[in-house]
Amino acid sequence: MTRKFCTILHSLKSPKNVGMILRSHVANGGSAFITTGHDLPWAFKKGTRAFSRKLERKCRILHIPDPLETLNWCKAHNYSTVAIEISETPTFLDEFSFPGRTAIIVGNEGEGIDTEFLKKCDHVATIKQFGEVGSLNVAVSASIAMYEFNRSQPTLNKITGSHYKDG
Ligand SMILES: C[S@@+](CC[C@H](N)C(=O)[O-])C[C@H]1O[C@@H](n2cnc3c(N)ncnc32)[C@H](O)[C@@H]1O
Repeated sequence: MTRKFCTILHSLKSPKNVGMILRSHVANGGSAFITTGHDLPWAFKKGTRAFSRKLERKCRILHIPDPLETLNWCKAHNYSTVAIEISETPTFLDEFSFPGRTAIIVGNEGEGIDTEFLKKCDHVATIKQFGEVGSLNVAVSASIAMYEFNRSQPTLNKITGSHYKDG
């Protein structure tokens, strides 16, 4: 079975973070890119596009306002839900085996992922931290999770695009 991941952003607020996560999602070969936890679809304005490099054009973007409906969508599409979140009883990401079809879920910059929602996810994986800081940036966390999901995969394609002109 081909390994596949989608990305779910639960109640994110920062255009920079959404743009950066979308860029990592495309770079890591993600399938659907889903926003949830707010009424209106994410508007990919200048503030987001500056960080996404306008890669939203290459993405299947869905907006599902209700987070619980998002979990239903995952079930219907055979994705196991993996919340990337700090936990008091952590399963650390480097010891975690991602299911073949994974929905990578990250949470709001201030509040994190809502506790009730978190309980309904199939798995919770925590990224180890070693210094005196409460949490990592959400875009950094999502990118680490995507990298870990793909780590054991052979690279099928050369890196293409104008990466040397990167901003
Ligand atoms: C900045 S954190 C939210 C604030 C955090 N709850 C706190 O109390 O500092 C935003 C999101 O980044 C992700 N995140 C941050 N640090 C993480 C870590 N060490 N392991 C897994 N996810 C992390 C989670 O998805 C979290 O919902």
